[in-house]
Amino acid sequence: MASVYHSMSDADLDRELAQLEAQGRALREKHLALDMARGKPSPEQTALSRPMLDLLTSATDLTDGSVPVDNYFAPDGLPSARELAAELIGVDPGNVIVNGSSSLNLMHDLVAHAFAIGVCGNTPWCQQGRVKFLCPSPGYDRHFTVTAHYGIENIPIPMAPDGPDMDEVCRLVEMDPQVKGIWCVPKYSNPQGYTYSDETVRRFAALNPAAPDFRIFWDNAYAVHDLYDEGDRLLNIFDVLAEAGGRDLVYEFASTAKVTFPGSGMAWVAASDTDIADIRAHFAAMRVCPEKISQLAHAAFLRDAAGVRAHMRKHADIARPRFELVERKLAEGLDGLGIASWTHPRGGYFVLFNGPEGTAMAIVALAKELGVTLTGAGATWPYGADPRDSDIRIAPTFPSLEALGQALDVFVCAVKLVCARMERGSRV
Ligand SMILES: Cc1ncc(COP(=O)(O)O)c(C=O)c1O
Repeated sequence: MASVYHSMSDADLDRELAQLEAQGRALREKHLALDMARGKPSPEQTALSRPMLDLLTSATDLTDGSVPVDNYFAPDGLPSARELAAELIGVDPGNVIVNGSSSLNLMHDLVAHAFAIGVCGNTPWCQQGRVKFLCPSPGYDRHFTVTAHYGIENIPIPMAPDGPDMDEVCRLVEMDPQVKGIWCVPKYSNPQGYTYSDETVRRFAALNPAAPDFRIFWDNAYAVHDLYDEGDRLLNIFDVLAEAGGRDLVYEFASTAKVTFPGSGMAWVAASDTDIADIRAHFAAMRVCPEKISQLAHAAFLRDAAGVRAHMRKHADIARPRFELVERKLAEGLDGLGIASWTHPRGGYFVLFNGPEGTAMAIVALAKELGVTLTGAGATWPYGADPRDSDIRIAPTFPSLEALGQALDVFVCAVKLVCARMERGSRV
């Protein structure tokens, strides 16, 4: 659709621009300090888990079945925590290790393991010369940071509503032994909120990598983060792999970061028997056992998948109005102008906004001037380089509804102003 500004006469465009500049000045004078940058739960959301803090007292029985919680033991995590984690992602508890409070930390540790030690006895990546990771883009910036940190080449892969471009993924993974992994957020992807189709999951499970030490980093961070009763359905990649006889291909990660407390929850990794043994040996060199008091509290508080679903419905009641406000404000402000599109997620933590080519950096900078912090333009692309300079990630959960509404008004004004200024500039 052509931009509304493009079809205006010079006089109409000047009038429109003057009005938008006046709006911008009025907003600037409000000295706002609003933040839509990072995917954090709101204080009301984290408050939902405060009752968990009352479950453990000095009188609590600190055993989990026969396992002492108050001492070294259970290097793979408490049995009740492993059962909960396994049930949430649909795998056998024997294939899960619950360790620490950050899934990103586990992802980093497994990249470091592959890089320095080698996957299942293969030559370490650091001794293999140039190695590459596929990065469906836009994607989660911190994933890309992990691989870039080790000097691994991040290669962008186009994303569509049904997942990454699988023709491109197959071509690269099956032809090039330097390709060692791919970052995936298969449900409510960060930042689009897309869920991979069954066909995409099946094609991932059917990959025949050229490299024996290639692994899919399946970051199921938003496995239970539905905004509506009817959530997106993601095919269980381990079920599909099992149908084909099972292979050592996938590391799946998840955590309770956005179920209970970010940074203070429990995180886990699931993998095939062979891979989990390899991971176990790696973790054994790092620590005697994981922190288990928090695991005990989580298992007592959340209990099982049904308990988590009930808890997540309370999160959804808080997060959903914010997502709906984003939809309403963007639609009211921008629908029909031919300058923008955005995603309509039914879960997760983000909305992806897409402006005209060459505007994202200017919009983010102008929004900042007007008092609203957004994720840096380009941050969702490897090396911060959005080739079209058009993607902006919106994170609506943290601000109050009132602050979010104000931030979105500023954002809409910034988008229109940048687009109208660009049109004016192109006519001079
Ligand atoms: C896709 C994705 N994975 C992982 C994380 C971080 O999870 P954790 O706190 O368990 O390290 C985030 C946080 O925003 C995320 O969006």
